[in-house]
Amino acid sequence: MIPVNQPLLEGRELEYVTDCIRSGWISSAGSYLERFEEQWANYCGREFGIAVSNGTSALQAAVASLGLETGDEIILPSFTIISCAAAILHSGARPVLVDCDPETWCMDTDEVEARIGARTRAIMLVHIYGHPVDMDPLLRNTDCRSSKMPPRPTEPSTSPDERTRAHSGNAAGA
Ligand SMILES: Cc1ncc(COP(=O)(O)O)c(C=O)c1O
Repeated sequence: MIPVNQPLLEGRELEYVTDCIRSGWISSAGSYLERFEEQWANYCGREFGIAVSNGTSALQAAVASLGLETGDEIILPSFTIISCAAAILHSGARPVLVDCDPETWCMDTDEVEARIGARTRAIMLVHIYGHPVDMDPLLRNTDCRSSKMPPRPTEPSTSPDERTRAHSGNAAGA
């Protein structure tokens, strides 16, 4: 069998998990949770971070935070886990699928631009199986600065590297 993914466990994971279990704080709160949320937020250049139990929950929380209305649209790749489309449907919005590049298996960024319309509220990026989405055209042409995308509140300007980190993970709001 070829595994979809193999975890990288080459550090002090066992020591930390043991320490966490010994502390009794295995859910809801605790020093590891606080440190993770704070350090991940810092890494992404954001003020807050929220830890959840899995990727499916993270997608649902990210989409819910957009405050979408019925008829709003989110663009996503056709090749990904069903959790992506489920999070969009759960919010009442409409998933708009784009094809994937046969080389990288990630979303075709040219098609993304073509699919942006008046009801587009976000692009759900999925970096699949270790292949990153081709971010540059998306950030250059279809980020919230696109004339067709609704503007978001002004943020401090960021370097390309910071922007890539801010968009890392499954979901990126527009
Ligand atoms: C691209 C992608 N997103 C999200 C998920 C969902 O993650 P989880 O199983 O932690 O809910 C997976 C799971 O395989 C995935 O492949």
